[in-house]
This record gives sequence, structure tokens and C-alpha cells, in this order.
Amino acid sequence: MDTNRLSPTLAKALNDQMTAEAHNAQIYLAYGAWADDQGYSGISNLLFRHQNEERTHMMKFLEYILKRGAKPVITEIASPGEDPVNVNDCFEKVYTYEVKNTESIYNIVNMALAEKDWITWNFLQWFIKEQTEEETLAMDLLSKVKIAGGANANADALYLVNRDMGKMQDSATLAQEVSVENP
Ligand SMILES: [Fe+2]
Ligand SMILES: [Fe+2]
Repeated sequence: MDTNRLSPTLAKALNDQMTAEAHNAQIYLAYGAWADDQGYSGISNLLFRHQNEERTHMMKFLEYILKRGAKPVITEIASPGEDPVNVNDCFEKVYTYEVKNTESIYNIVNMALAEKDWITWNFLQWFIKEQTEEETLAMDLLSKVKIAGGANANADALYLVNRDMGKMQDSATLAQEVSVENP
């Protein structure tokens, strides 16, 4: 008896997203290694912490595919690509990857909607919220680098950025969590 509750199209999209999350983890891992090698141990610490989150995202997709009765296909992970050329480039790339990832999640939400697969649609809502946080965090990080001088930031400013980022929390606060008393 076939207990697979995912259409072949959705199963493939979810599987591709699982691999994309693993790829994102590789990117954070690579950028963290690059940052530490450049002497930015705080930035590296933040990026290494974040790669763990991406691996968690990968696991969520893997588990979901299994729980819907399909079989995840583990493939090779594409190379993270070139190292950033500087701290500004690093966080511009991080921001771009996060936006790209949100769009990729949107695509699967659209597919679930078209198929009226409400269980998958519901599962993906967690990722919609997560991407709100991810984009906000990436934007915050880029802002920090921008006010430090962006691509022209000097060593003093980067020293502070590095120190700050090492101590930053893993996730950003959502607009929904803010109140008048606690802006
Ligand atoms: Fe992710
Ligand atoms: Fe992410």
C-alpha cells in the first residue's frame, strides 16, 4: 500500500530545499572560516553559530519528507563558491542568499497552495516566519557594516564590528513581538 502523501512535484521541491539548506550551511561555514582566517574571530563565531541553524532547517525538511511517507534523497552539496573579498562583501552576500532563500520557500508555498496540500502549506509557515527573522538579521548585520564605512571601513571600525558581532544573539526580534513599552 502506498502511504506517500506528497505529490512527486512537491516531494522534489521539498527535497531540493533540503539540499539548499545544507548548501546555505556550507556557505556560512566557508565564510566563517574565511573570517577567522582574516582575524575576525567575532564575525566567524556568529557565522559558525548560524551554519548550525541552516543544518537544523535541512533536518526539518528531511523529517517532513519522511513523515509524509516519502523518501528523502541525499545528494552532494554544491560548493559554497568564492570567499568574500572583504567584510562588506561577506554581509552583502549573506543578505542576498537569505533573500534568495525566502523566494525559494515562497515558490514551494505557491506549489502547496496550487495543489491544495494544506499540510505542506502549514509546515512551510514555520519557514516563512523563520525567513522573516533571517532577513532581518542579515539586514541588521549589513547595517552595522555600512555605518562602519561599508567597503571602505577602516581597521578601527572593523575592530568594533567584529567585537559586536561575536556577542550578537542568534536571531533578530520580529516586528510582531514589539510593543509600545518594549520597542
Ligand atoms: Fe535556512
Ligand atoms: Fe538562513
